[in-house]
Amino acid sequence: MCGIIGYIGHKPATPFLVEGLTRLEYRGYDSSGIAVRNGDLEIHKCAGKITDLVSILPKKIEGTSGIAHTRWATHGPPSDVNAHPHCSVDGKIALVHNGIIENARVLRNRLEKEGVKLQSDTDSEALVHLIHREISNGSKPLTAVRRTLKRARGTWGLCVIFEDHDTIICARNGSPLVIGVGDGENWIASDTLPLQARTQQVIRLEDGVLAEVTSEGVKTSRFDGRYSDSNVTTLDEDWGEAELGDYPHFMLKEIYDQPEALRQCLTGRLDLKDGNARLGGLGLTPKQLQKIPHVRLLGCGTALLASQVGRLVIEQLARVPALAHVSSEFRHNDPVIENNALHFAVSQSGETADTLAAIKEIQLKGGEVRGVINVVGSTIARQCGKGCYIHSGPEQAVASTKAFTNMVAALTLFAIQIGRARSLSRTRGKQLVKALKKLPQLVESYLDNPGSIMDAVDALKDAKSVLFLGRGISAPVAREGALKLMEIAYIPCLAYPAGEMKHGPIALLEEGSPVVVVAPNDSLKDKTISSIHECRARGAKIILIHEEGDSIAEEADIAISVPSTDPILSPILTVLPLQLIAYHTALILDRDVDRPRNLAKSVTVE
Ligand code: AGP
Repeated sequence: MCGIIGYIGHKPATPFLVEGLTRLEYRGYDSSGIAVRNGDLEIHKCAGKITDLVSILPKKIEGTSGIAHTRWATHGPPSDVNAHPHCSVDGKIALVHNGIIENARVLRNRLEKEGVKLQSDTDSEALVHLIHREISNGSKPLTAVRRTLKRARGTWGLCVIFEDHDTIICARNGSPLVIGVGDGENWIASDTLPLQARTQQVIRLEDGVLAEVTSEGVKTSRFDGRYSDSNVTTLDEDWGEAELGDYPHFMLKEIYDQPEALRQCLTGRLDLKDGNARLGGLGLTPKQLQKIPHVRLLGCGTALLASQVGRLVIEQLARVPALAHVSSEFRHNDPVIENNALHFAVSQSGETADTLAAIKEIQLKGGEVRGVINVVGSTIARQCGKGCYIHSGPEQAVASTKAFTNMVAALTLFAIQIGRARSLSRTRGKQLVKALKKLPQLVESYLDNPGSIMDAVDALKDAKSVLFLGRGISAPVAREGALKLMEIAYIPCLAYPAGEMKHGPIALLEEGSPVVVVAPNDSLKDKTISSIHECRARGAKIILIHEEGDSIAEEADIAISVPSTDPILSPILTVLPLQLIAYHTALILDRDVDRPRNLAKSVTVE
């Protein structure tokens, strides 16, 4: 939910801090700040985007160690004073924190009673005053931080810098923190993106671990003081350059990345000869696949919607019960976990706290969870231990696009694999494998000629609200279209299974109400045509996503066609116009497409 950056070495710290903040802006961007050790601690921070921070920085800031932070507000509104770093009263200690201190109120009240004047409304600030107290009582930096955290409850990824000590203390409990190891210099970041250009050697801090980082090295220890091996690993996936290139926004770039991203996801995983698919990382033999009683998928947001598509594909191809669960609800519903059931955690970032919590609930009850993840080595990937990477490449825009299509593709591969171990025929399997092989090129051909997107944008951009409808495998696609339009154009949307619309939401319709309908050429199409008629009879304006050449186009005011494919693969195509409609609507409404308000790319708080 926030981005943390740190540097200690022999070069000026500020350039890396600012560049790193920019690379982590997708994690939160309502305020930011830096602290550089330059004799004393030089602090600069403000509300707004990182460009606002850069505009207030002096031309040159000396100092070869520093920490920085870009925020997504959890406690206290975005403001200069609530921006991190937070400092001790004597200004000699500065702290940046990602996470939530659940007992912050108690800690703040106690500090205030003892005469400490807190500057901000944040939970994080309490920590720096407690650390200051420990230092004042003679503790060394590491001990001071450890003792303070023993009094805190909640989650943290944090860095602390000291005027009087040439070290940065890091600690991790629930929010990611990675240390890049160099020669005479070390870097710290919330994820590996800012580190790649500096080093391939990283230490991914585990929960409950603290690290003492100096220019000479990194010493890690456990919360209870026991030694912890600082195992250095090599970054094993070159993300390539997450650069914008000629695109105006990351979201548009990532929409157009989808053909190549799909190819990456499918490469080496299709077996045309046997009409099968291979997801080696799942570590599941055909015998084990035959015994699975049911499949559960967990996710949030777009990952949840991809899971809703996936569960339908799994049930249809493998004839095994499959359900998609909202991660944030899952563990609070006290689920019954059958330990030979198959559980998937679906997540682009691999850092979503709600999904991580659901995983731990399953593991606590003896179940195993496999990840369907984009970011290699992420927390969820490590917590699961097994799974498959979707290989979308870095997805920087807050609105997820290529991760959705690759999640659906990966879950379809799994559905074929488990299906072929059970009742799915070789013939049907070969049909699906052939169709999957063709899919990247079909996506490319649609994106090269996306049809009347701007007509749809004109029909939606001034709407008070928009209704999205789909049936069967297109219902989650309709929900994904609604989510996109909501999160980047800020237009209220409602997504409903088309058959359900007449049981209530139809009351919303009046003359000219825009209704987006997803209707591939599948067995439910005729039913969806009935829903279209019901909407039109109430004056609705129909924007239809359909397969090319299908006469259903005549039922719509605006018809956008996508290439034909196997109906079970249609979501990977029918979602494309919805992504473009959301993107261009947000643009025309002058929204911040890549950094929409109130959101963050990786939600690492529950
Ligand atoms: C989707 O466009 C949103 N950015 C959001 O719903 C996202 O899908 C959700 O937070 C889950 O993130 P994850 O895939 O990284 O777990």
